[in-house]
Amino acid sequence: MSLKIAVLTVSDRSYRGERADQSGPALVEKISTQGWEVTSTAIVPDDQALIIDKLRAWSEGEVDVILSTGGTGFAPRDITPEATKAVIERLAPGIAEAMRAASLDITPHAMLSRAVAGIRKGTLIVNLPGSPKAAVENLEVILPVLPHAVDLLREDPRAEEVHRDPESA
Ligand code: MTE
Repeated sequence: MSLKIAVLTVSDRSYRGERADQSGPALVEKISTQGWEVTSTAIVPDDQALIIDKLRAWSEGEVDVILSTGGTGFAPRDITPEATKAVIERLAPGIAEAMRAASLDITPHAMLSRAVAGIRKGTLIVNLPGSPKAAVENLEVILPVLPHAVDLLREDPRAEEVHRDPESA
């Protein structure tokens, strides 16, 4: 099953060109190894209105999953979860819970991620932390469930029967 995924890097410094975006490309690389399609990538600053604009635009179309990276911590300008909550229609708390739980085995700093996940129209939006290492580690936690999540979002009538085995997805 091929998924269409968009990657949004949220970083003031990368937006201003002061620091190369490494997290977006690391996520694109990981997605590509799954054989899935990256439909769009973009870099926005830690600005709630600009993040919202991008999330809204991408969830209007064919995108199955939007992954954001950055802006989930405690710094004053970390606003990605608030922007995400402003656009999602239904929360998907299990996704953020699972990422934090798994990440706590790697670093206690995992509890400093305020990442949220939720659904807008047919698109799943997931916040990932900002460093390339953290972003990929968190994505790896949810990779096995994304095909079934997208099955359900696409209202595939077979989704209930199939109930994909996460190990084989
Ligand atoms: N999760 C994993 N798996 N690995 C990490 O290194 N870093 C944490 C956390 N989650 C980390 C992680 C740190 S240091 C912070 S501050 C929060 O994510 C928020 O990161 P952000 O502000 O870059 O979004």
